[in-house]
Amino acid sequence: MTSLLRRKSIALDALPAHYRLKASLDWRHLIPLGVGAIVGTGIYTLIGVGAGLAGPAVILSFLIAGAVCACAALAYAEVATMIPASGSAYTYSYVVLGEIVAWAVGWSLILEYSLVVSAVAVGWSGYATGFLGALGVQLPAALIGGPLAGGAVNLPAIAIIAVVAGLLMLGVRESAAVNSTLVAVKLAALAAFVAVAAPHLRPVNLEPFMPYGLVSHDASGARRGVMAAAAIIFFAFYGFDAISTAAEETKRPARDLPIGILGSMVACAVIYIAVAAAAVGAAPFAQFANSAEPLALILRRTGHATLAVAVGAAAVIALPTVILAFLFGQSRIFFVMARDGLLPAALAKVNPRTGAPLRMTAATAVVVAALAGLFPLGDIAALANAGTLVAFIAVSACMLTLRIREPMRPRVYRTPIAWVVGPFAILGCLYLFANLQPKTQIFFAAWNAAGLVAYFAWRALRRTAPVAM
Ligand code: ALA
Repeated sequence: MTSLLRRKSIALDALPAHYRLKASLDWRHLIPLGVGAIVGTGIYTLIGVGAGLAGPAVILSFLIAGAVCACAALAYAEVATMIPASGSAYTYSYVVLGEIVAWAVGWSLILEYSLVVSAVAVGWSGYATGFLGALGVQLPAALIGGPLAGGAVNLPAIAIIAVVAGLLMLGVRESAAVNSTLVAVKLAALAAFVAVAAPHLRPVNLEPFMPYGLVSHDASGARRGVMAAAAIIFFAFYGFDAISTAAEETKRPARDLPIGILGSMVACAVIYIAVAAAAVGAAPFAQFANSAEPLALILRRTGHATLAVAVGAAAVIALPTVILAFLFGQSRIFFVMARDGLLPAALAKVNPRTGAPLRMTAATAVVVAALAGLFPLGDIAALANAGTLVAFIAVSACMLTLRIREPMRPRVYRTPIAWVVGPFAILGCLYLFANLQPKTQIFFAAWNAAGLVAYFAWRALRRTAPVAM
């Protein structure tokens, strides 16, 4: 029996060519990839949910969630450049903390990436259905929602995942080029929103600024307060970690990864604060708290119906960039876990022409499409957050552990004031986790219990040790 704490060594050069991913990306691809993954359902839709939990003080929730993510991003940049291998937090944990931790983190990443893809696909389906409706095309109710949402299957959600998966399977470079164009559309819509909504700022909309207080507490059937909103708004900020899953495919990881991760993170933080301030200033938060399209609703309420349609169209066109980035990340995490022997090795082959893991991308797409087709949007984002928080804690712990274990090892990027940033990221993530809705925490615990059962079942079956020691 092998040790639960055995660690993986990184020896990419020793891998046979058909197991290696093609290095075709640099930071000019990574920043659009990161912004494409970060700006999505969080700012377009969950801003309403956050406002419902925190009132106008959702601005503070953005600041808090952004600060925690920024610290985690700094830890990611250091660890990703020290371990420039595919697999993100899963691989870092395998190298630094050992197999059992890596399995738990990989299990959490599967939850994160799957649920983000599924959630954004369902959200996209809502926008697409509304947009088609404005054009006079009504889809049957049975085909626009899963069984738990009163329909039979969410066909648009499945269709968008199929399209994006096809794009990825054509090869990374092509996908990244399309992605850059769509990111520009998404950002232009947010800039137009801020420019048009900001002049409608009315101080009365900001009163009371913190109707549910700072600390989470139960009120009107939910856990509310600035911190409860921060725990859900956290969804809006992650995505930069998807860049680290492309580490093995970057030409110069030492330069490209820190620029890609930090550049996209800072850009998004600035955009979000501007959008949140414009939104809560321009309309009473209760008006858009429960909207499926809060930004469009605010524009309509302030007399900008045409721009509301344009912002809706931009969401329909551009939200798939989030699906693209997370599907990319998910397929590679599965790929690396298979390469490590934790999943069937036959699936861990890359296509020699495109350098992409075709079978794994297709298998991932089928699973996330099934989830999107069957489950309602509701609490999916919160559960994705739980998985992500665990991954961020693990990466921050990896950064600090390496500082202790290998202080002299060269670091092309060093996290500034690491012993402040690292603990802040870990404690911040733990605190946000504690502020998630209780049902999310319970489901997450059940998911991890199932993961441990799967892990020990796999250990019992495994006869050989596939990992290079
Ligand atoms: N940050 C991504 C979004 O908001 C997951 O959609």
